[in-house]
Amino acid sequence: MKKDSKFLISKKHNQQKVTVLTCYDYPTAVLEDKAGIDIIFVGDSVGPNVLGYKSEIEVTMDDMIHHLKAVRRGVTDAYLLVDMPYKSYETPEQALKNTNIFISNGADGIKLEGAKEKVIKYLVKHGIEVAGHIGLNPQTHVIKSIQGKTFESAKELIEDALILEKAGIIIIFIELVPEEIAKIITEKISIPTIGIAAGRFCDGQVLVVNDMLGITPRKLKHAKWYHNYQDMTYQAITKYKEEVEKRLFPAEENVIHMVREELEKINIWIEYFGRKKRDYI
Ligand code: KIV
Repeated sequence: MKKDSKFLISKKHNQQKVTVLTCYDYPTAVLEDKAGIDIIFVGDSVGPNVLGYKSEIEVTMDDMIHHLKAVRRGVTDAYLLVDMPYKSYETPEQALKNTNIFISNGADGIKLEGAKEKVIKYLVKHGIEVAGHIGLNPQTHVIKSIQGKTFESAKELIEDALILEKAGIIIIFIELVPEEIAKIITEKISIPTIGIAAGRFCDGQVLVVNDMLGITPRKLKHAKWYHNYQDMTYQAITKYKEEVEKRLFPAEENVIHMVREELEKINIWIEYFGRKKRDYI
């Protein structure tokens, strides 16, 4: 069943958790979709996690379109969300133009960072489904520090969540805030909150897929390793290298053979050709 925004919102009302994972390529999209992940999210975290960029700020519209198209080919049921990259939604008009590019490339909705009320209202008016993102915003906060730790900053986060809900967003990502504040926001608004490093009480959770598969070399406090990609992949590559060098790979089971009759014809031809060549010389 294709998941839409109504389905995602109904999960909150039925006290069911919303599952979200980032995704940047076709084979991972196929697996996430098969596993029943609700929202497959092409995040601008593709920059540091896949493209080797120093930060999300380097990610362009072209990068996002390239990865969105790959992920789209692998998704059947999940809601496909895509991140608006840095400086792609400076004005309502620019935001709509870029959003329409994503929608025409298969996105179901877009996510943008910060309390961009005017931009969000404009997009919603034009029929776009928008996800908000408060707390740590990687496109603005160069230093990744916990947000909403003090009364003033927590109050601002709660107010922003209410403003964004009123502006018409369908869900809101809350990143790197104390779980107490994420809980208050979750209880105050009627759309699903999706937490990352925001504790246990959000309506759903999102992780960067590289962080949960152990592709990211460091273990992060908020994430959990469900797989040890680094070690397993390194071991596999090392073994392959050794086996090629020791002539253990390819083995008999990896080899394609020719049928005997055809091979005999080739051998006869080679012999004839060799003789002719000698005559010529
Ligand atoms: O781009 C990203 O990965 C994000 C995280 C909050 C999931 O925005």
